[in-house]
Amino acid sequence: MRLDKFLCDSIGLTRSQAGKVIRASQVQVDGQTVKDAGFQIGGEHQVRYAGQSLRLLGPRYFMLNKPAGYICANEDADHPCIFQLFDEPAQSRLHSAGRLDLDTTGLVLVSDDGQWSHRVTSPRHACAKTYRVWLAEPVAATAVAQFAEGVQLHGERSLTRPAELALVSPTEALLTIHEGKYHQVKRMFAAIGNKVVRLHREQIGPLQLDPLLEPGAYRPLSAEEIAAF
Ligand code: URA
Repeated sequence: MRLDKFLCDSIGLTRSQAGKVIRASQVQVDGQTVKDAGFQIGGEHQVRYAGQSLRLLGPRYFMLNKPAGYICANEDADHPCIFQLFDEPAQSRLHSAGRLDLDTTGLVLVSDDGQWSHRVTSPRHACAKTYRVWLAEPVAATAVAQFAEGVQLHGERSLTRPAELALVSPTEALLTIHEGKYHQVKRMFAAIGNKVVRLHREQIGPLQLDPLLEPGAYRPLSAEEIAAF
């Protein structure tokens, strides 16, 4: 791999920034200053920049317990973004695998591996997502059957996919859906005449939100958790 690409991939510099620091003699390979951006770096080389030894960032995978008031985007003019809760190098490369609304809390998966995120979010994989839902009105007795059959959302052509609703109390339920339409949970309850007052995602596919994660905290996924998708 070229030295400038190595700097981009290890500390998130742009190609032109990498070229500048290399030309400015700020990069050493095995203790020698290298001014050639195209110098080939192999596994045996030790690269240093700004007094630090660099290594390539592998693909990264995290789970976040999203607090309310944060937006699942890399930048937003009006609201804080979930990435402000992270302290990682080359953070601009991270993205969320799927989104939660500003006021929704709970499990968000974050990665810089686009193919992995695609497996989590693509409709073809129909990855299950479980939400704890608090409602303004007691859940109607017919809701379990309605959601199992599919409901008609405003502005959509087809019914929602079969979803599983389990009541926890008259106004609290666990809902598992297998797709991710815009505001889907809120719209599903609106379709049966109720209103979501609070929404928290507990699970995506086989992965549950780690109960040790406080709101706003995140942790890397284990190898097993990554491979589960
Ligand atoms: N469904 C919603 O309505 N909102 C979310 O944030 C997630 C699912």
